[in-house]
Amino acid sequence: MRRPFVAGNWKMHGTRAENADLIEALLLGVPAQPTAEIAVCPPFVYLWEAARQLKASSVSLGAQSVCAESIGAFTGEVSAAMLKDVGCRYVIVGHSERRALYKEDDALVARKFLAAQSQGLTPILCVGESLDERERGQTMQVVSRQLTAVLDLAGIKAMQDAVVAYEPVWAIGTGKNATPAQAQEVHAHIRAEVAARDGKIAAALRILYGGSVKAGNAREIFSMQDVDGGLIGGASLKVDEFLKICAAAQAH
Ligand code: 13P
Repeated sequence: MRRPFVAGNWKMHGTRAENADLIEALLLGVPAQPTAEIAVCPPFVYLWEAARQLKASSVSLGAQSVCAESIGAFTGEVSAAMLKDVGCRYVIVGHSERRALYKEDDALVARKFLAAQSQGLTPILCVGESLDERERGQTMQVVSRQLTAVLDLAGIKAMQDAVVAYEPVWAIGTGKNATPAQAQEVHAHIRAEVAARDGKIAAALRILYGGSVKAGNAREIFSMQDVDGGLIGGASLKVDEFLKICAAAQAH
């Protein structure tokens, strides 16, 4: 049985005061033993403060990106060891905004994945096609390519301590979510790709859906067989919405 997982990707939002309020409200609303594992991923500069606030709670902390290098002259970068040091458990790698806006390619994403694991962080590997790629019928091919880059570099065993998030680019921040059937089709494809290398690891792998998840559509999307929760952008900044999304994630 895969424990459902809901992670909030705050992206570049928030202030110290807003974050403190958001986490306080979240901790008040989260049941003592939530069905789903819950994590929040604030911007780098707020991680330490968030870690202190989340201490002794059931909510985990994640970062939104990580440097592929471990230490040295890499101005502006943040290493996996630093993320671990401030209390992160997870780190998002390969988010489509990083791929598109900061030109992170498959090879770099795979190296970031490895860097994260080398410090005991669990990577949340994002994959997903653009609208253009979907319309050309290339969805499975794109997702396979993104996944294979990581599997080839890190090896199949690395997927024992990783999470995959399917985030179709056309659904991110657009209000236009993938239908449950569309999500299920790609999630099943991802699981099959992993199963081709190791069936047991594939069966245990958590695959999240991300892209315009809201309280109103979460239950339907999460009810699909291969959808194990969500990676939530905009709706993770509204505590009521986020808590409803967390409550919608059921084990199956
Ligand atoms: P939205 O939920 O705002 O569409 O963003 C999804 C996302 O990119 C999460 O990483």
